[in-house]
Amino acid sequence: MNFERTEEQAMIQQMTRDFADKELVPIAAELDETGRFPKEVVAKLGELGLLGIAVPPEYGGSGMDHVSYVLAVEEISRGCGGTGVIVSVNNSLVCDPIWKFGTEEQKKEILTQLASGKKLGCFALSEPEAGSDAAAQRTMAVKDGDHWVLNGTKNFITNGAEADYCVVFAMTDRALKHRGIISFIVPMDTPGVSVGKVEKKLGIKASSTTSIVFEDARVPASLMLGEPGMGFRIAMNTLDGGRIGIGAQALGIARAALEVAVLYSLERKAFGAPIAKLQTLQNMIADMATELDAARLLVQRAAALKDRAVTDKSVRYSKEAAMAKLFASEMSHHVTHTAIQVLGGYGYCKEYPAERHYRDARITEIYEGTSEIMRLVVAANVLKQFS
Ligand code: CAA
Repeated sequence: MNFERTEEQAMIQQMTRDFADKELVPIAAELDETGRFPKEVVAKLGELGLLGIAVPPEYGGSGMDHVSYVLAVEEISRGCGGTGVIVSVNNSLVCDPIWKFGTEEQKKEILTQLASGKKLGCFALSEPEAGSDAAAQRTMAVKDGDHWVLNGTKNFITNGAEADYCVVFAMTDRALKHRGIISFIVPMDTPGVSVGKVEKKLGIKASSTTSIVFEDARVPASLMLGEPGMGFRIAMNTLDGGRIGIGAQALGIARAALEVAVLYSLERKAFGAPIAKLQTLQNMIADMATELDAARLLVQRAAALKDRAVTDKSVRYSKEAAMAKLFASEMSHHVTHTAIQVLGGYGYCKEYPAERHYRDARITEIYEGTSEIMRLVVAANVLKQFS
């Protein structure tokens, strides 16, 4: 077991840390206040190769490993939680399935643009009546010559308002349940595709969350991802990777909160000394730091397993990805909550970023699979080992 970073991993960690300090920390409060999508920042992230970190260079990516990917997402999310999910979705919910399941033509024409940041992607699985029960899709795909016609509504789509391409899941035959699901890469300018409701959210306001409506949208069969009936497996496999990214986002948000709490405790005086001298405060800081490190180990282990799975198809990481997201998101909730407690009344006010971190952390327990679904995935895998 080796806990050392490779040279490449150390390099991307430092680069994204510097980027976050220079480009994200100064604007994070404004993005939260206005809900503005940080177009200029996303363009720079693309130029730095951070929108297709694990995609091979021949398809426009940086060709790094998934441990590098989680190091980068943690640093970016420490700077701005909303920007963290923009990056995570494009990397792991969009580039990753196209790289794994796409045709050579799809990779050359579409993945290259998405991984290099020239275009942005989104992932449309959830529906108003199919969230945790992802197999209960109602969006229909009907074959018509060399096209498929899509009808239905997707919701809670990160990057929905800005995306150029969308990885979409639909049903060909509801009687087949999850085996009737098909997947496509749909250009967002396809006639019949429109962005619907833009959600007003508690946190991660720099990223858009929208519904996407398909009304007789004709998609060429050449844009099908995988084969008919493979859609559910593609979605689940993709979400295994996505959950590692959200775990890393949760780490970054929690780290930002810990930093605010520690700096405040060193300056704020009570009972004649900085509150950092109080054992009560030290207990809080010790728990926050320990939980954060434990979560990081789980996230990095899942990412390392995903790296092994690239070359060894027998390697599975669903359980480890679910454990990482479950623990990191609940840790992030607890750490950001405690940070507010350390700051007291100031923690509750916008003068300090602690309240933003608390709001940003909350979604990590919900999207890309709730904590309840993560427990279900972990338990199913543990039970399987004994039966
Ligand atoms: N990888 C590949 N295949 C998998 C898999 C995995 N991790 N997990 C399951 N499968 C396959 C199974 O092998 C099985 O295949 P066969 O029928 O061929 O044998 C099939 O999928 C069905 O498996 P299950 O019976 O376990 O499926 P289920 O219907 O019980 O559902 C579930 C399991 C875990 C509840 C799943 O529905 C799930 O993960 N739900 C949560 C969905 C989710 O995370 N949504 C978030 C959407 S993205 C988002 O948040 C938006 C955003 O922009 C951030």
